[in-house]
Amino acid sequence: MVKKVAILTNGGDAPGLNAVIRAIVKTAETNGVECYGYIEGYKGLLTNNYVKLESKGNASGLLHRGGTIIGTSNNTNVFNLKVEENGQTVYKDMSEKCIENIKEAGFDCIFTLGGDGTQKSARDFSLRGVNVIGVPKTIDNDVADTDITFGYNTAVSVATEALDRLHTTAESHHRIMVLEVMGRYAGWIALESAIAGGADACLIPEIPYDINKVVEKINQRRKDGKDFSIVVVSEGAKPIDGEIVVKKKLDDGKGLDNIRLGGIGEKVASDLEELTGLTSRNTVLGYVQRGGTPTSYDRVLSSKYGVKAMKLAMEGVFNVLVNYHEGKMGYVSLEDVVGNNKEIGTASSNIRTVKMDDDLIKTAKSLGISLGE
Ligand code: F6P
Repeated sequence: MVKKVAILTNGGDAPGLNAVIRAIVKTAETNGVECYGYIEGYKGLLTNNYVKLESKGNASGLLHRGGTIIGTSNNTNVFNLKVEENGQTVYKDMSEKCIENIKEAGFDCIFTLGGDGTQKSARDFSLRGVNVIGVPKTIDNDVADTDITFGYNTAVSVATEALDRLHTTAESHHRIMVLEVMGRYAGWIALESAIAGGADACLIPEIPYDINKVVEKINQRRKDGKDFSIVVVSEGAKPIDGEIVVKKKLDDGKGLDNIRLGGIGEKVASDLEELTGLTSRNTVLGYVQRGGTPTSYDRVLSSKYGVKAMKLAMEGVFNVLVNYHEGKMGYVSLEDVVGNNKEIGTASSNIRTVKMDDDLIKTAKSLGISLGE
């Protein structure tokens, strides 16, 4: 019987986090369970910083609110935490301290709302006897064994609106407009927004691109009387003969969260300008994809995720990730999601990328969107 549970939100924020918190709190209260929230993700777990969450108090009015009311932290790997000791940088396993804090507070289950890095730590806590339930959060939609993560639909909507706006200015100026979107090593946001926004080309990490193929597409459009083009570029896209563009490396770039991607849009725009002779401009959409109010789809999905997570806790199903698969809420073991000791950030990392037989790929090709191949 669970009596006291805690939520933490970790990693980059995503629209819908507050809606998940609200759904967990409401379901907990209905069932006589007390709900708490750790402040700033795993950091709060380490410093034992948590607050009580109540639907009639601090957890009210949350459905439409972006961000997370309990805060989040990036790069807080409590199993390998970077600390300064005697003027030296050392890495320490602080997980025992976190486990003591959980025991002392008397939490029967910790809900970990986050992407792959967060769930890897959740899995590691589960191996040390903590009851955890993961909820897949990320605008990138790249969590394994889950058809859709919350926050993704909002990011696609924001990118689509940006494309609509770029269309009119591209047409007026006879320009190539490049839009660089987020997504890390998965092209979901790029591909769906390219289809929704009527783009002419879409470059994703899963298909290293040949710029000449994009040039062919643009030149064909010119022959057909269209002297402007729209190109969506995923931040993780790379040329067939080149590398991904890294904006910044933290901690020597170890781990997915320590590599900040960005800059490929600028390269694509300048290459296209040179090769086509058309004026090109690049727009980096950035953090507006993550901020602000969730779409109605994400509010509903987040609510489903939150309710299911709390129900699983009440059923005593732990060490799983709540998932959404083939139209149904369910769960998978955290072990399956993060894989056996798959180090985050390596090629073997278990993130969900776009497969070549995905309907989105087939749809994009049939619509004549160049994928740069
Ligand atoms: O994972 C979500 C995401 O927004 C990615 O799309 C992007 O690459 C990354 O986070 C940016 O991370 P940060 O918040 O560390 O700048």
